[in-house]
Amino acid sequence: MALVIRPSRIHSVGVFTNAPIRKGARVVEYDGPRISPKEADRLYDGAPRTYLYGLEDGSTIIDGEGLGAYLNHSCDPNCEIDEIKGRAWIFALRDIAAGEELLWDYNLYDDEAPAPCHCGSSKCRGTMYSPEWMRKMRRRAKSAKL
Ligand SMILES: C[S@@+](CC[C@H](N)C(=O)[O-])C[C@H]1O[C@@H](n2cnc3c(N)ncnc32)[C@H](O)[C@@H]1O
Ligand SMILES: [Zn+2]
Repeated sequence: MALVIRPSRIHSVGVFTNAPIRKGARVVEYDGPRISPKEADRLYDGAPRTYLYGLEDGSTIIDGEGLGAYLNHSCDPNCEIDEIKGRAWIFALRDIAAGEELLWDYNLYDDEAPAPCHCGSSKCRGTMYSPEWMRKMRRRAKSAKL
């Protein structure tokens, strides 16, 4: 499997595969220095583009570098991210053809800055936030009006 970074119609550059990838394959690690949420806020609050991934322990953020951190978001993704023993990996959700851009659903949360999605899929929800987080935000906005 050969992965390359090149221009994406979704946003700036993304990661593409030069060879077919089988459903379930472990594609690439989302790797980088581990920092605290406080440090991530200090470094990147308000940044229009970030490369951060929060591990399940709630106190570790990967400050992504390398190929794995360059995948764009889609609301109809062909990959997903999963954590195994403190490391984050991108897995293929379905068979992926050579030439396709690799995309995962960021399911962003815990922020209120706008994060409009330009994935262009028919399932696009218009935001890179997770449906659960959006529900929460709508509920909060409603009760603020009461
Ligand atoms: C990890 S970077 C992805 C690589 C990025 N395209 C680049 O050129 O560096 C994440 C950033 O890409 C942008 N991005 C990724 N997917 C997007 C999408 N579906 N719609 C809009 N912006 C997106 C956002 O600015 C996000 O903060
Ligand atoms: Zn979308």
